[in-house]
Amino acid sequence: QRSVHNTYFTLPVLFAMLSGHYSFTYTHPQNWLVLIAMMFAGAAIRQFFVMRHGYKLGRNGNPWPYAGVGVAVIGVIMLWLAPEPVEPMPAASADAVNTSVGGAIAYATLQPILAQRCYLCHGAQVQMKNVRLDSAANVKLHAQNIYQQVVVSKLMPMTNTTGISEAERMVIKQWFETGAKVD
Ligand code: HEC
Repeated sequence: QRSVHNTYFTLPVLFAMLSGHYSFTYTHPQNWLVLIAMMFAGAAIRQFFVMRHGYKLGRNGNPWPYAGVGVAVIGVIMLWLAPEPVEPMPAASADAVNTSVGGAIAYATLQPILAQRCYLCHGAQVQMKNVRLDSAANVKLHAQNIYQQVVVSKLMPMTNTTGISEAERMVIKQWFETGAKVD
């Protein structure tokens, strides 16, 4: 009987275990609602699995509506939690920064690039690897690492999700090499 009860918790438990990778679920203001909805979806999909055996043995009808409801709930959650689209920064504004002359790059020039390409994962909402880049003081603190990640190893932005351009990498390169000023 315990096993019967546990059955409906199989998928919700899996979701809870893996949710650490999906911060937009547990950092949401209504995270409790997200969890309940995901648990409901998991239980519904599980019911599909349970009844599928009965269907094969001719004991009940095709239980696909349970799976359908579960998937529909997940779809609604995806739409609900989807981030607001970010206004793309016109590429021209980075290209317009003349990096060939070799002058110092001001923080005011650097900041919009970081806002566009980094804040998504290193801003107020999310701070991957505890790195937050939405203030001058923090950018100064992480200057060496920013240079290393964006210019030398090019590991950041991760998988270039935010579509940084070569011109913008050059701005960050020159900003760092000319003293990494933030004032
Ligand atoms: C899509 C998400 C994402 C974006 C966008 C992103 N980062 Fe990251 N960043 C990560 C993740 C994830 C890690 C942790 C990587 C790891 O654990 O090795 C990280 C780690 C870092 C670190 C610490 C690296 C270390 O090992 O010490 C720095 C510095 C950094 N990012 C800078 C930036 C800068 C600068 C940008 C923008 C140009 C940027 N990131 C954009 C996801 C992102």
